[in-house]
Amino acid sequence: MRVRLLMLKAGCLVLFAAGCAVGAGAQVSQNVQAVQLTQEAQAPGVVGTHGARAKAAKEQAQRAAALAKIAPAPPMGWNSWNFFAGKVTDKDIRDTANLLVSSGMRDAGYVYVNIDDTWEGERDASGHIQSNSKFPDMKALAEYVHSKGLKLGIYSSPGAKTCARYEGSLGHEEQDAETYAEWGIDYLKYDLCSYRTVMQQQAPNDPQAQNRLMRAAYETMHQALLKATAKTGRPIVYSLCQYGWDSVWQWGPSVGANLWRTTGDISANFDRISEIGRGQAGLAKFAGPGHWNDPDMLEVGNGKLTHDENVTHMTLWAMLAAPLIAGNNLTQMTPEIGAVLMNKEAIAIDQDALGRQGDRIFAEGPVEIWAKPLTGGRTAIAIFNFGESAMRGIGLHLKQMGLHGKVTARDVWAGKDLGKIGDDWRTIVPRHGVVLLVVW
Ligand code: GLA
Repeated sequence: MRVRLLMLKAGCLVLFAAGCAVGAGAQVSQNVQAVQLTQEAQAPGVVGTHGARAKAAKEQAQRAAALAKIAPAPPMGWNSWNFFAGKVTDKDIRDTANLLVSSGMRDAGYVYVNIDDTWEGERDASGHIQSNSKFPDMKALAEYVHSKGLKLGIYSSPGAKTCARYEGSLGHEEQDAETYAEWGIDYLKYDLCSYRTVMQQQAPNDPQAQNRLMRAAYETMHQALLKATAKTGRPIVYSLCQYGWDSVWQWGPSVGANLWRTTGDISANFDRISEIGRGQAGLAKFAGPGHWNDPDMLEVGNGKLTHDENVTHMTLWAMLAAPLIAGNNLTQMTPEIGAVLMNKEAIAIDQDALGRQGDRIFAEGPVEIWAKPLTGGRTAIAIFNFGESAMRGIGLHLKQMGLHGKVTARDVWAGKDLGKIGDDWRTIVPRHGVVLLVVW
């Protein structure tokens, strides 16, 4: 069968404005609204003199350079939420740290060990946040994680409560950033959660004012982290989590974000993973060294995903230059899952120094081809089959990627050089599977 592929890019940009980039139906109207908000957000009030504009541009460039120092490539590591959720303990984090080392994951690049929600205890009389009984000594835990050549991440919210209703940072931002620095924290995921209530209460029925409040809250913590870093010299990766609302990709860097979630929560099923991955089309231009789109943490090795589904998930995230934050239980990781997470060539595509996110080039029905520019004039090409049966006879459509004549190709998951191939090359892609090539 010859698969006819349609150029979808322009179509997707139209859909994108109407929410296609986020996928989840409930978010569509929020995104329409978001596009308007962002126009306002992009004109940061510096319409004045030439001098004022130049000063703002200089500040922006300085901020971009600072972000690029902290996260030059998409952050890689592990996070507790997708598998352990509210049950995570100090022991789980130590076990994970040990296994990141012994499995080879640390050396493959997975260096951040991130504790998600439910570590938080009460505040003491002077307002300092304490960890709860599941985490008896955060400083000692950070020392342990650091002793393994890893880094420790933590989680909070700009609201009074986190999403799991633990203590958030509202009104204690500087104090919390200082505490994190004292403990030796290297990464903060800052999750909007109950701050939405503050936005609604302070600016009822005024989405633009709510957006300003949200950005101000993220900037407050950014400034607090900078102060803490100035004291300790320990940079802290700043990860925004507000589910992609108000086109966060357009203003994330302006509040100091190294990465920002572009979607609602992922789950360990193929429909959700592919919905999120496919929904990222059109976002490539917002990512680059220091500032990354985050389609949420990996589910590779969780739930009942098949081998092809895990490979497709890993490939999609690599093509998206997405943060690779594993979310599986390493104490039960099979060699097969380890091989997917640690495929050196897939990781190299994700981490490529050019820092370019890939985008969808063609699609017809369940078949999509995505391309990602790489260093050295190379291109990663992923041919996905999101459908329920194998697809045969799929070609490359190199011309549409600006490539002419024959190219030298390597099949990443097969670990095989294919020699010279052209547009007459054909492949078979299994159900829920992918063929990933690097060509030059
Ligand atoms: C939200 C986030 C998740 C996770 C939970 C924790 O749902 O999107 O990634 O952090 O909160 O409560």
